[in-house]
Amino acid sequence: MSEHKPGGGRTNQPLRVPGRARKSSATPGVGISQDDSDAPRTLRTKAVSLRTARGRTTAQQRWLARQLNDPYVQAAHKQGWRSRAAFKLIELDDRFHLIKPGMRVVDLGAAPGGWTQVIVKRGAERVVGVDLLPVDPVAGAEIIEGDFTDPTMAERLTSLLDGKADLVLSDMAPNTTGHGPTDHMRIIGLAQEALYFAFEILAEGGGFVAKVFQGGSEKEMLDTLKQAFTQVRHAKPPASRKDSSELYVVATGFRPERLKAAVSG
Ligand SMILES: C[S@@+](CC[C@H](N)C(=O)[O-])C[C@H]1O[C@@H](n2cnc3c(N)ncnc32)[C@H](O)[C@@H]1O
Repeated sequence: MSEHKPGGGRTNQPLRVPGRARKSSATPGVGISQDDSDAPRTLRTKAVSLRTARGRTTAQQRWLARQLNDPYVQAAHKQGWRSRAAFKLIELDDRFHLIKPGMRVVDLGAAPGGWTQVIVKRGAERVVGVDLLPVDPVAGAEIIEGDFTDPTMAERLTSLLDGKADLVLSDMAPNTTGHGPTDHMRIIGLAQEALYFAFEILAEGGGFVAKVFQGGSEKEMLDTLKQAFTQVRHAKPPASRKDSSELYVVATGFRPERLKAAVSG
């Protein structure tokens, strides 16, 4: 996806909350006020209609129309974030204060790089993004192209981070089948794997955030989370589409000793 210089493409319409400044920078997302998470909710956007449906299935037309008329997509494009998903992390971080300057942070399922941009922008010192797909370089972050379940991954990550991680984020999503229960099982399976992976690389006191879907079978994961972290919460950031059952678990205060005791007991 092409990158945009923040501030580029500005129109006469009010694009952000008045009085909230944007610094100019050549790096997408860098120089954007943290308050920019408010921007999409304040946008007045003009509906875009598709000129032709030729060659597109109904589902493709619907998807395209939704993208073109989505204020988050438009704001991400204008502000230089690589994905509309960047706003979900901005909103989660505004609410839970997860990313702190100097942190070591791992971004699982990083492509195309929106969350990675946000993590760097919010001051993390060492940032590693992992994805099956290639990710264009993000200044201030390392990218590993590969499967996070690769047996060498934990070691590669801790070596790049020069220590254990303070925060492991997962916005990973498996390919969907369209069959709700199957998709739910798949995403919970992936989130659970991400959690066990986080146990390997998290420092004491660290945090874990993962995308899950509402649907019932996340109970086992929640029980594990509650044993391993001091605080476990759920959140659906405003940028998450209302018609999606997606939400995020936000766990903070990793307690490796408690986890060890629970596993051995
Ligand atoms: C919704 S996208 C992430 C968007 C990203 N947070 C952003 O803001 O740009 C989910 C990503 O998870 C990745 N993914 C799924 N399974 C994975 C795995 N086993 N290892 C690494 N990445 C994986 C997919 O390739 C996909 O790019």
